[in-house]
Amino acid sequence: MKTGNPNPIYPPELLVEICPHYYELHDQLMLEIKKHFRKASKKPLRILEIGCGSGYTTTCLLISFPDASIVSIDRDEKAIRQAKIATEQLGEHVQVSFVHDDALLYLQNSDRPKFDVITSALTFHNFTKDYRKKIHAILRKNLRTGGVFANADKYYLGNRATHLAKLNWQISQIMDVFASKADFDGNHDWVMHYLNDELPQFRMPWSTTKKELSGNGATKITRKFSEKMETILLATF
Ligand SMILES: C[S@@+](CC[C@H](N)C(=O)[O-])C[C@H]1O[C@@H](n2cnc3c(N)ncnc32)[C@H](O)[C@@H]1O
Repeated sequence: MKTGNPNPIYPPELLVEICPHYYELHDQLMLEIKKHFRKASKKPLRILEIGCGSGYTTTCLLISFPDASIVSIDRDEKAIRQAKIATEQLGEHVQVSFVHDDALLYLQNSDRPKFDVITSALTFHNFTKDYRKKIHAILRKNLRTGGVFANADKYYLGNRATHLAKLNWQISQIMDVFASKADFDGNHDWVMHYLNDELPQFRMPWSTTKKELSGNGATKITRKFSEKMETILLATF
């Protein structure tokens, strides 16, 4: 049965076809996290990644922050297996602990040292708005003072016409990619996924996010990069 939800662990090679700025989005996310700690002491960072998927974001974190201690969490065992394979290619010295758990449950049981960074890419838009609200509410408890929540994802920035133009571009990009592969199921699933993301229970408005984060202790919230449907949000706690 077609679900309208594409397998969330498609490889980065496909994701960059669907979203041509996928690598740049990651480069910018890493850069913004680095910039955030530019003036801080050089102590190795404790980083939590939410939703490792195929492991591309985890790989970027490992390369960009070689001294950091990184925890990456995913509720899908298959994603964890794939991310482990992807990151093992970096060598035995890499420092990452994969945790198979639900993100909210993990954050609620935060009987552990706080993180400097909680980061994620293209995962939060899959959460329902109620679930996302609960995650936003618990970030503070898991971040040390001065820590940052850095999320690269599909934010609805508030202008309907601009948003629809971006969505049109995205749907047509998907159709071109899958037509060239003659993959009609892939085409269907990805188009449905993007349309489902527009439903009120999934859409991720920037204004709501900002309100929820500042209501839960974020002292500064900034938009750092925006290309087509994707934007980087940085919230300092
Ligand atoms: C689109 S993938 C992430 C892709 C990855 N950042 C990348 O670009 O390589 C989203 C991942 O989030 C995971 N996920 C979704 N909801 C989750 C939840 N509530 N708790 C933990 N992981 C979740 C999915 O299993 C999936 O592997």
